[in-house]
Amino acid sequence: MKADRAIVIFGATGDLSLRMLLPSLYFLELDGLLPAGWAVLGASRSALSDEAFAEKTLAAVKARADGHFDEGAWKRFRARLSYVAVDAETPASFEGLKAALSGAREAIYYLSTSPNLFEPICANLQAAGLAHDNSRIVVEKPMGHDLASCREINDVLGTAFDESRIFRIDHYLGKEAVQNLIALRFANAFFEPLWDHVSIEQVQITVAETVGVEGRWSYYDDYGAIRDMVQNHILQLLCLVAMEPPAHLDADSVRNEKVKVLRSLRPLSGRDVWNKTARGQYGKGVADGRTAIGYADETGGGESDTETFVAIRADIDNWRWAGVPFYLRTGKRLPERSSEIMIQFRAVPHSIFSGQDLRANRLTIRLQPEEEISLSLMNKTPSIEGVELKPVSLNLSLDDAFKQGRRRIAYERLLLEAIKNNTTLFVRRDEQEAAWIWVDGIVDGWKRQGMAPSAYPAGAWGPSAAYALIERDGHSWDDR
Ligand code: BG6
Repeated sequence: MKADRAIVIFGATGDLSLRMLLPSLYFLELDGLLPAGWAVLGASRSALSDEAFAEKTLAAVKARADGHFDEGAWKRFRARLSYVAVDAETPASFEGLKAALSGAREAIYYLSTSPNLFEPICANLQAAGLAHDNSRIVVEKPMGHDLASCREINDVLGTAFDESRIFRIDHYLGKEAVQNLIALRFANAFFEPLWDHVSIEQVQITVAETVGVEGRWSYYDDYGAIRDMVQNHILQLLCLVAMEPPAHLDADSVRNEKVKVLRSLRPLSGRDVWNKTARGQYGKGVADGRTAIGYADETGGGESDTETFVAIRADIDNWRWAGVPFYLRTGKRLPERSSEIMIQFRAVPHSIFSGQDLRANRLTIRLQPEEEISLSLMNKTPSIEGVELKPVSLNLSLDDAFKQGRRRIAYERLLLEAIKNNTTLFVRRDEQEAAWIWVDGIVDGWKRQGMAPSAYPAGAWGPSAAYALIERDGHSWDDR
């Protein structure tokens, strides 16, 4: 290999690599963003020639290209590609990797493998002298099943790589709209004076999916919605909404503020789980206009007490957020695919418009499927007589405002940041562990209280307990 830098993908022929990683690297090439001198080395157990790996990659790239396939860009990308067969558990096979990397003075190891291979891969990289100071490691979830197993994985990574060289991916942090949340909060003077318990009544974070568990039953059944979505993506969104302004945009300044939020989350345990959480599991119903089978029938697996929906009232015990409920909700087989954050401001303290229903202002930040920001304001309807008020939305569609063209895969940004050696968009160990501590408390509460998931039909917004949870506080979900 002539390149003096390499990104090595372990599990290169697996689903994540073919659907996301290799196409993302190709798109970076297409846009001229993949720096010169970087090679892309696929590694997995199968014996494949460079040519055969390139063919697989080409098919994967074309499947994602959606009109953005460019022969020239592919040729340039192809020139960076090669393959080496590595058996993660056989030390001798790392000699082949070492030979393939000879001359590379900087390396990124992307572990797109099952977590039980993290330990042998780290040990074998270290033994082969490949975990040197100019190397870093990128890891994917699931990073543990609870705090204890997460710590074990982190200890394994930590024996071979210093924390500053560990890049833990949460793909939500690569989404354009999630990044924009930081810009919105900290590049506009307008929001900050209103961003606290004095002006904000409640916050809702919803990540809704129409898909079921698809072919992922064996993973999902062991995790459920709280571990699959809340422990990582939803808590990351909550951190970005709730954190204090960091002094700088560097990795530690941002991550220090996120950890403070996670550590301020009020633990939910014991009987609290009945009032402050709702668990659901989809049964048969209609999703995306088609009849859908229930979760328990997905693989003919039968009974399961794994939740495919969860709603939680979270409280952040600090000065800024005292008394402000954060309602979190996520689930599969819901009526629509949408991710949004809704900030509900308090109503005016006194209305001079008697007889008029004054709706409090809402700021909605929509992450998916479209990227939109809207602010609802009360407005007078035009008329010469009387004053009739109506809520009107100020809408900003980011697609229209910036004519974005191709919607980027979140992994493009994350891979680029890993190449640039910037950990800001990756999850630090203490951050990840603080999230597990809070989630473990809830899971433990469910277990001790014997709180099984309630059924909801596919295509509904979760079980009735999710409505009861919010209505108990005199609020309602922002379902459109
Ligand atoms: C993954 C979860 O992390 O995120 C999946 O494991 C989920 O269950 C997915 O479907 C959602 O990601 P996105 O980017 O489609 O919102």
